[in-house]
Amino acid sequence: MHSTRPAPRIFKEVYRASHQSAKTLTCPLHRRRHYSQNSLNDHLFNYRVLVYSVLGLGAGAALFHGSRRLGFTELHAEAPPAPAEITFEKPKKTKGLSKEENRDVISSQHLQVRKSWENPGVYAWGSNSGRVVAPDSDETLIKQPRRIPYFDGMLLRDMKLDRNFGAAITENGDLLQWGDGYSKEVREPTATLTGKDLTLMAISRDRIIALGSGGKVYSLPVSQEDQAKGAKATESSWIPFWSSKSKVSYRVIEPKDMAWGEKVSSISSGLEHLLLLTNKGRLFSSASSSERFPSRGEMGIPGLSWTTRPPGPYDQPHEIATLRGFEISAIATGNHHSLALDKEGRAFAFGDNTSGQLGLEPSSESPFIDAPSLLPISRLYSGTNLSPRITSISAGGTNSFFTVDATRVASPKEEVTPRTGLGRITADTWSCGQGILGTLGTGRWTHVQGTPTKIKSLSGLFEWDEDANTVIPIRLKRLSVGSTHASATMDNVTHVRAGTSPSTNSPNDTNWGADVVWWGGNEYYQLGMGKRNNVSVPGYIAPLDSVAEKERAKRKEEHRFQITPRHVVSVGGRRVSMEQRVECGRMVSAVYSGV
Ligand SMILES: *[C@@H]1O[C@H](CO)[C@@H](O)[C@H](O)[C@H]1NC(C)=O
Ligand SMILES: *[C@@H]1O[C@H](CO)[C@@H](O)[C@H](O)[C@H]1NC(C)=O
Ligand SMILES: *[C@@H]1O[C@H](CO)[C@@H](O)[C@H](O)[C@H]1NC(C)=O
Ligand SMILES: *[C@@H]1O[C@H](CO)[C@@H](O)[C@H](O)[C@H]1NC(C)=O
Repeated sequence: MHSTRPAPRIFKEVYRASHQSAKTLTCPLHRRRHYSQNSLNDHLFNYRVLVYSVLGLGAGAALFHGSRRLGFTELHAEAPPAPAEITFEKPKKTKGLSKEENRDVISSQHLQVRKSWENPGVYAWGSNSGRVVAPDSDETLIKQPRRIPYFDGMLLRDMKLDRNFGAAITENGDLLQWGDGYSKEVREPTATLTGKDLTLMAISRDRIIALGSGGKVYSLPVSQEDQAKGAKATESSWIPFWSSKSKVSYRVIEPKDMAWGEKVSSISSGLEHLLLLTNKGRLFSSASSSERFPSRGEMGIPGLSWTTRPPGPYDQPHEIATLRGFEISAIATGNHHSLALDKEGRAFAFGDNTSGQLGLEPSSESPFIDAPSLLPISRLYSGTNLSPRITSISAGGTNSFFTVDATRVASPKEEVTPRTGLGRITADTWSCGQGILGTLGTGRWTHVQGTPTKIKSLSGLFEWDEDANTVIPIRLKRLSVGSTHASATMDNVTHVRAGTSPSTNSPNDTNWGADVVWWGGNEYYQLGMGKRNNVSVPGYIAPLDSVAEKERAKRKEEHRFQITPRHVVSVGGRRVSMEQRVECGRMVSAVYSGV
């Protein structure tokens, strides 16, 4: 028996009516396996589900956990086809192989981690009608992950993708642009806004908004032509009496009345509007497209429209005064709606609600809500012994996502015993908005989903923490939402130290990254599965580097894409801390090596 990492150690808790004595387990992997058979034919995952022991925490709740390392027996998830244990001739194969080579041979996940360190860069796929995911190709659809050679060896601070234009911030803070939306003639990523130490960016329909390290916000048109003909800022230069004109035209977006030490710390853009969050928890909004002024309430300023706007630049920021007093800590935007999360775990929504993306209870006459409204998340937990707190918000297109830490509390009449599990946290993921393409991730194809629904396969997951000897919830590390599809990176199930210490020195000790799942619209193959069907339940995709996989095709373990978590590695002779990140854009997807 080889001992590469078996199926991810993800277990699911199932609440059953208390009269039921049988305590059963559903594991999301069952579903994923089924799903993978339908859509990934050749990349069948060899799932093994571990055997569980019942801890019996809480009335009617069965908590299952297990770990290969704790010596529990392994079971196979589904009967046919019973995956054979590794049958390649081990003695021949492993003889003469270094420990590291052996790790590559026995583990696809180990190989993926190594490749991501040795050869950083960008994989992209989906619609190529704007020459974004494969700039040097005339194919209109890129069906599976493919490298953009320009980025080979490069680390990036950020990347945002529209089907017609791409933008990235290099490791030293310069903006790169490519795609037909930038220029039909220039086929290679090109540096545009440079020398500003940009840290992150957002894209509207036709502009790029980038945040400099000092909190300055730059807004520039996507198109090279517009950049050339627009007004150029005069930049002060270090050479006395000499100032140079910027190569591209840009505007500076500057919130007024900033407090001492207050600066913009985060930005997020829809198609026409921008949210700007300051390090003091204040929220501003502005117009972010030069084509259209936001008109669906997404700026969160009641009554504000093109005709009622105050004098001054059309894209001046407005403080969302109704949120004063709430310390905002995170923001997210869909095409025409906005989400804000405060430090206490309360979320506010405003803007377009035509698909139910604001996740509010039935109320209003108008589909556009221009005053930030509190998301009544506790209603989703009424009748349970759980007290919810929103831990993250994400949005894209016409959808919203919330992750929640739900803490087990005692109900008034409850008899509290040590077995009650008070204080235990369950991590859940909720979604609302448009479901016709499967973007809700709930298995449903509802057109309009106004009340948030739980994504079962991303909720109530636990793992056994060997060090702490306890069961811990598995949260999401990151959720990237494109205009119709989404991807979630799971937190806390990685190992990247094989071979670095005596305890990890066995040739059988292999690295593994974090699991990544994908779902939603697949009209342009943006899910990277090589097939076009829309997907309503999160599922795996095959490893990005299919060539490397084929080289090692004899391996009989699960082949699924995993992402390499942050780690200090040597790139081109330098020690850098890097991680792979998923970016779901507008009908396109990418994975890049981020600093
Ligand atoms: C690694 O696994 C192989 C196959 O199960 C086994 O034969 C070998 O003894 C193991 N090596 C070590 C060092 O544990
Ligand atoms: C948002 O849309 C949903 C779905 O149509 C609807 O149930 C809800 O009432 C709307 N919310 C508001 C505040 O209008
Ligand atoms: C998961 O994360 C927690 C907190 O960051 C840590 O204490 C724990 O050891 C991790 N568990 C595993 C299995 O890596
Ligand atoms: C995905 O959904 C869209 C919109 O409903 C539909 O037009 C398309 O046919 C679907 N794709 C497949 C393969 O079913």
